[in-house]
Amino acid sequence: MKKSKSSPAELKNPEREVKNFSVASIGFGSMAGAICNNLRDSDISICVGARNAGSASIKKAVAEGFDTYSIKKAVKMSDFVLLAIPDLQIRKFFDDNAHEMFEGKCIILCHGLSFFYHPLSFPKNCDIILISPNAIANKLRENYVQKKSDYALCAVLRDRSKKASKMLKYICAGLGIPAHKTIISRLKDEVFSDLFAEQSLLVGGILAIILSSFETMCEAGLSEEAAYLSTFHEIKYIVESISELGIKDFLAKVSDVARVGSIEAFFESGLKDRIKEEFKKIYANIESHKFYNGFITSSKDGKAGGGLYQKQLSGILNSRLCDTYERFKRKNR
Ligand SMILES: NC(=O)c1ccc[n+]([C@@H]2O[C@H](COP(=O)([O-])OP(=O)(O)OC[C@H]3O[C@@H](n4cnc5c(N)ncnc54)[C@H](OP(=O)(O)O)[C@@H]3O)[C@@H](O)[C@H]2O)c1
Repeated sequence: MKKSKSSPAELKNPEREVKNFSVASIGFGSMAGAICNNLRDSDISICVGARNAGSASIKKAVAEGFDTYSIKKAVKMSDFVLLAIPDLQIRKFFDDNAHEMFEGKCIILCHGLSFFYHPLSFPKNCDIILISPNAIANKLRENYVQKKSDYALCAVLRDRSKKASKMLKYICAGLGIPAHKTIISRLKDEVFSDLFAEQSLLVGGILAIILSSFETMCEAGLSEEAAYLSTFHEIKYIVESISELGIKDFLAKVSDVARVGSIEAFFESGLKDRIKEEFKKIYANIESHKFYNGFITSSKDGKAGGGLYQKQLSGILNSRLCDTYERFKRKNR
């Protein structure tokens, strides 16, 4: 197990009881890869447990210098078990691996979905902590390397050893998430906020708004170039500015034409309230478990989403905006 030199300040002090605890990562997917690299750079011993030593993700782990073993051996050698595998695979993982293997270990989850919906599938003889970084995997790694820190919604889901809080702090520090950005949260808050935010804003909302805005201009006869540059291309600067400046300063910075026009178009017109009413339906769908149950039912053949979903997805992938994006990408080469 390789170690490197630098380690965040938090690791040097308080959690003596768990210092030198080692981690076995199950698999080496997007999030596991980022976490393994951050922990290793924080001097935490880490190895990878592979269900299939020849898989692409395990080859990547080996190429990045991690020792890999069978899942059983990696778990046996370690104090923590990082379970950063697809959420819907977690139940299967515990069906496939004897629960005795986890006696006295601390399982780390990066999203609470599996525990929220299937708590009984988890072994009873271990601690379980949730560390859900508010950053996608590549950003978690990039920020660590650039010495920027992230937030994470965290929870102790099971504290059999009475040391789970300390273990949670230890891993957060190793990931580059400082104590003031370790937000202790309820399981429901983490699960529902993640599901709702991705559907309403981060994935569904942002794509729907960019597409609608682009299509409206094209259908009204404006050029694809103008429609593309003023929507898809510019949005990154706007999101960055809102994040850096805050809403108040952002609104002060944009032109009066942009401010007045936008407030009239979205707020005075009632459009914002109508969107919120629709968002409440999305939330209700999640809260009543209708979304999750439907997702599970439609995932039975290994492919999530019903017929209507496939039709909508194909509409997005074959949209005029996607074609225009490809055209601009070629120009940029
Ligand atoms: N990706 C992100 O940016 C992100 C952001 C926030 C939170 N998360 C959370 O992080 C967790 C992991 O997500 P991810 O996107 O990183 O997953 P991922 O990249 O799809 O994970 C792939 C890895 O999981 C292994 N795996 C899959 N099924 C397995 C099973 N049944 N038993 C053992 N190993 C198995 C694969 O092994 P093989 O190589 O053998 O296929 C592979 O190494 C999830 O809880 C997710 O919600 C992810």
